[in-house]
Amino acid sequence: MKKTIICRCEDVTEEDVLQAIDEGFEDIEELRKRLRLGMGPCQGRTCIPLVIRILAKKTGKNVEDIPLPTSRPPIVPVTLEALASDEDEE
Ligand code: FES
Repeated sequence: MKKTIICRCEDVTEEDVLQAIDEGFEDIEELRKRLRLGMGPCQGRTCIPLVIRILAKKTGKNVEDIPLPTSRPPIVPVTLEALASDEDEE
């Protein structure tokens, strides 16, 4: 059977998304937590738009009516130098 990969970072297929929606996970935040969508290196740039389209089609909603997931910026700004450094911050 052909599988359509929706999230290549977390190896989530279209079938996984449809099954989760059938189980009652009907918004992007719930689907993200259930399937780890958007938690890989691409941070959802690839998979979240695909999931929004699947969710809209499956639930009969408009794509524009589906809220985007919330983003969580760092509490304290971090410089690229600090991220690239091997030294522990004191
Ligand atoms: S494709 Fe989903 S987190 Fe990268």
